[in-house]
Amino acid sequence: MVHLGPKAPQHRKGTFSGVNEQLLAVIKEYEGLLTVSGEKLRQIVDHFVGELNKGLSKAGGNIPMIPGWVMEFPTGKEKGDYLAIDLGGTNLRVVLVKLGGDRTFDSTQSKYAIPAEIRTGTRDQLFDFIGDCLKKFVDEFFPDGVEGELPLGFTFSYPASQDKINQGVLQQWTKGFDIDDVEGHDVVPILQASIEKYNVPIQVVALINDTTGTLVSSMYTDPEAKLGLIFGTGVNGAYYDVTGDIPKLEGKLASDIPADSVMAINCEYGSFDNEHLVLPRTKYDIQIDKESPRPGKQSFEKMISGYYLGEVLRLILLELAEEKKLIFVNQDLSKLKKAYVWDASIPARIEEDPFENLSDTQDLIYGSVGIQTTSPERKVIRRLCELIGDRSARLSMCGIGAICKKRGYKTAHCAADGSVYNKYPDFKVRAARALREIFQWSDEVKEDPIIIVPAEDGSGVGAAVIAALTEQRLKKGLSVGIIGA
Ligand code: BGC
Repeated sequence: MVHLGPKAPQHRKGTFSGVNEQLLAVIKEYEGLLTVSGEKLRQIVDHFVGELNKGLSKAGGNIPMIPGWVMEFPTGKEKGDYLAIDLGGTNLRVVLVKLGGDRTFDSTQSKYAIPAEIRTGTRDQLFDFIGDCLKKFVDEFFPDGVEGELPLGFTFSYPASQDKINQGVLQQWTKGFDIDDVEGHDVVPILQASIEKYNVPIQVVALINDTTGTLVSSMYTDPEAKLGLIFGTGVNGAYYDVTGDIPKLEGKLASDIPADSVMAINCEYGSFDNEHLVLPRTKYDIQIDKESPRPGKQSFEKMISGYYLGEVLRLILLELAEEKKLIFVNQDLSKLKKAYVWDASIPARIEEDPFENLSDTQDLIYGSVGIQTTSPERKVIRRLCELIGDRSARLSMCGIGAICKKRGYKTAHCAADGSVYNKYPDFKVRAARALREIFQWSDEVKEDPIIIVPAEDGSGVGAAVIAALTEQRLKKGLSVGIIGA
């Protein structure tokens, strides 16, 4: 009998009865590949802190550390009606937010599915789609017309450089988007042109990353919030730094932005360790990167975010079936050979399978790739899903660990959003355990001082609060960007 490794996560579901020695040995091998020890997490966090600092330096580094030009903490008193749009991975969301000025808000939203072909289509297709959705929304919710122009916060969840708040020069697409002629361009005038083409009375006042929005919206309602995080199709985090501690802004700020002014930073830490110095990459991660539209980019994200979790499972199962010939004997593998046939909902639902014989797993695999599974195979598959989910949750905590260490936070609410955080089974438990291992809190500490809390709607409410803060600055004649931007 082969014993499973000591590093195995404590919460393994089910038993391995009926699984033969060969497959048990294989499980052990994958445990070795996919389990990240507490010690490794701490080593990653230490390296991560240095990389965050490099990103703020004049020379720069792998992590972009983009100043977001939000230079106040929200007070909760922001008030007014704002539109927000959120161009996410799969949907375009249009939100009308009414900020109450007393830490409360009301919002009304419509979601428009982004047609699959648009993700890799043309720039005009994408921005016409947005213009058209905005028109539909305004026609529906303002049937009597609009007085003046509606201020809009544009949540653009891709790495975009900002010399001012209403600018966003796309550095590179992520999460499978691949549209020509947008990288290297400021998306705000492109969006504004499309708004004008569709004749909608809207002015884009701010461009916001989803993490910055999450940070600000959560601070609007929760004064303990210090980080804004997305664990979804992509991963990223935002926090407030102090302008005097951002060397790359030295000499670029007008005198109305003092050295002790706060500044929201969109880290874009999905690109952490693009140099491959510290993350425990497997051959599957390497293959995913090599076959992606932007090889060499977003190394951290490609190991942990929702966009890639189903793909890691697929590659491992293909290896087990095709190369090792240990599972799916005499089955047609053609559908399993299709890249990205599974999104993160497949490993998530396999982990959640409540039946002893894993019949949901049987249905999911047969339904998606036409392969019949045996009971021992399903047990192996479920174990692999646990390992993939656990690795994602544990590594995801390194970003939080690094920001808190860098800023010296001893206590914090880390406001999180995204499909993996909200829907992936056990993510929250696994993440909390990893944070404990990273910070090594003593047993006397009864309650974890740094915890993850569910965020307020960052891309809607956050965008609205940022639009309100920007309007206030502009009214006071204060700068919202670098000198001359
Ligand atoms: C993008 C970030 C975004 C994150 C979460 C990443 O792929 O580069 O800008 O915050 O996904 O949506």
